[in-house]
Formats: sequence, structure tokens, C-alpha cells
Amino acid sequence: MDAIVDDWEGQLRKRLNTVAPRPLGLATGRTMELFYAALVRRLQQWSGSDLERLRSGWLSFNLDEYVGLSSTHANSFAFYMKQRLADPLGLLPEQLHLPDGAAAQPDLEARRYSQELQRAGGIGLQLLGLGGNGHIGFNEPPCGADAPCRCVQLCAATREQNAAAFGGVSDQVPARAITLGIAEILAAQELHLIVTGATKTEILRRVFANGCDPSLPASWLLRHPRVRLWVDDAALGLR
Ligand code: GLP
Repeated sequence: MDAIVDDWEGQLRKRLNTVAPRPLGLATGRTMELFYAALVRRLQQWSGSDLERLRSGWLSFNLDEYVGLSSTHANSFAFYMKQRLADPLGLLPEQLHLPDGAAAQPDLEARRYSQELQRAGGIGLQLLGLGGNGHIGFNEPPCGADAPCRCVQLCAATREQNAAAFGGVSDQVPARAITLGIAEILAAQELHLIVTGATKTEILRRVFANGCDPSLPASWLLRHPRVRLWVDDAALGLR
């Protein structure tokens, strides 16, 4: 994680001197737990005045949220972000935007969230993890490059993958989520995909093996002019 934390520290410093930078795009998942922990440790070493400037200018939009979970639910992505980033850095809840999983009409909420993001200028630097079936955000396969922010049905494999947080029972994982689409992701200025661990080796290879393919949503990243891939040796199959 050191290399990407070095990079993000530099990017965040640069943003301090940028007029109205576009919002950060943030992700959740186990991969990001290590990233946020390392980033927070690094940022806490900043001088008080730089940290205060970072805090006051913070604006981020997350990729996704489970439908049916409110922001106070321990398994919501809103709660994850509060615990791992907002609280340790002293950010206000309203500086971190996520879709409202408890909204009565998820389709409308997806549209509202997308409009809110457009009004904020679209994503600047977007952080991404890779799902076991090749999804990014919750863009489940098959998925086209123009898919917008929307409410989606989660695949059985994804609910299985994320079951650990729900007592290991995949039926307890919400069946739907609101996610930014491939369209909003590709509209970001720069994309950073982090892939770690041996369980991701095969999907990582497939995603980048044969060009863009709707059955592997992450493969649309090949279309973006500024993508950085951060991988560990295990994900590369080297250990
Ligand atoms: C989840 C999230 C993604 C995340 C990915 C990988 O389902 N919707 O945003 O990046 O799958 O998760 P993990 O890091 O836990 O493997």
C-alpha cells in the first residue's frame, strides 16, 4: 500500500493549491480498509494547518451503497466511510457523499445522486476495487460502457463475496444497491484501480486479457486515458 499512499498523499497536497478541484471518488470493500488505514496514518502526520486545509476543502462521492441500509447501519458503506475515514480525519458527514440506501424510491435516489455529482463537477480522482466477477462499483456483468448511475440487482456471486460482513450468510446481503455507472466512472479525470490478494489473480488476468467486454465491466477501464493499476505480488500470481 505504500506506493499508492505516497501517490495519494502527493495528489491531496496538490489539491490544496488547486482552485475548486473536482470531488474525490471513493470506494469501499476489504481492499480499501488497508488503504484508508495507511492513508489516515500518513495524513495525521501533516502539519496542523495543512490538515485543517485538507479538512475544510474535503468533498468526496462514493461509488455505491446497499439499498435498504441507512447510514447508521453497521454494514452500510456510509458507516464504513465514517469509521475508516471521516471520524479519524475529523471530516463532517456532509463532506462525504453516498447514495441514501434508505431512500423510499431507490431509482429516484440514483438519479438525485447522479445529478448531485454532476453539479459538483464530476469525479476528479476515482478509487476503484475489483469485484470477484469483474465488477467495479456495483456494475454487475453484463454492463455497457454507457451504463449510468442506477439501482441494480446484485449477482449471487457478489452477495457471496460480501457475505462475511453479514455473518457469512449471503441471503442477509441486500439484494440491490445504488451504484455510479460505468459512464460516471469513465468521466473521471483519473482512475486508480487497487487489486490485492491471490483470489483476484485470475479475474485480473481476464479483465485485461482481451480488450473491452461487457461481461467483464472492469475491462471498460481500458478506454480511459488515465488509469493506474496498483497491484500486489499475490494478485499478480507471484506468491
Ligand atoms: C464490492 C464493492 C466494490 C469493491 C469490490 C471489491 O462489492 N461494491 O466497490 O471494490 O466489491 O471488494 P473487496 O475489496 O472486498 O474484494
